[in-house]
Amino acid sequence: MTQTHVSTLLSTEQIAARVRELGAQITKDYEGRRLVLVSVLKGSFIFTADLCRAIDTHQVRIEFLGVRSYGEGTSTSGVVQITQDLSKPIEGEDVLIVEDIVDTGLTIAHLLELFKTRHPASIKVCSLLHKPARTKIEVPIDYLGFTIEDRFVVGYGLDWAERYRNLPFIGVVEAK
Ligand code: IMP
Ligand code: MG
Repeated sequence: MTQTHVSTLLSTEQIAARVRELGAQITKDYEGRRLVLVSVLKGSFIFTADLCRAIDTHQVRIEFLGVRSYGEGTSTSGVVQITQDLSKPIEGEDVLIVEDIVDTGLTIAHLLELFKTRHPASIKVCSLLHKPARTKIEVPIDYLGFTIEDRFVVGYGLDWAERYRNLPFIGVVEAK
C-alpha cells in the first residue's frame, strides 16, 4: 500500500470561525421563523453538528437525508439516489439544505427539484465548500463557507472511499 499524507487546506480554527459567522447570519435571517435544517448524509454530518450549535434559536428542527451519487472514487456520475428520506413532511416549512461541498452542482440541483414538489414555505442552500471549477449546473448557494480550488479534499465529514471523515480539519491527500 502506498503511504499517504494529508496536508491542511483549512484548519480546525479557520472552519470553526467561519461556522460561527454562518450561524450568526442564519440566526439573523430566520429571526422569528421556524427552521428545518436538512443535513445531507454522510458528508455534512460534522458540519451540521457544528452549524446547528452556532444557530441561536430554539425553533430549529434537524432532519437527515441519505444520498448516494453513483460512481466510485473521486468523480460523481450525476445520478442521485435517496437512501434515507426525511422523517417528517416539510410542507409549509422554511428549509435549509446543509451540504458539505457543491462540486458539479448535480446533487443540489436534484435535491432542490425534489423538495420543491413537497411545497416548503422556502428553500435555501448552505454549503461549507464550493469548487466552482467543476460546475456542471449552476445552483444557488445562499450560505457558503469557503470557495476552494479543484482539489479532492477530505476531513470534517468528507471522505475518500469512506476514509478520512474523522479528520478534524480539511485537507488534501498526497501520495508520499
Ligand atoms: P456534486 O458533484 O456537486 O453533485 O457533489 C456530489 C458529492 O460528491 C458531494 O456532496 C460530496 O459528498 C462529494 N464530493 C465532491 N467533491 C468532493 C471532494 O473534494 N471530497 C470529498 N467528497 C467530494
Ligand atoms: Mg455530500
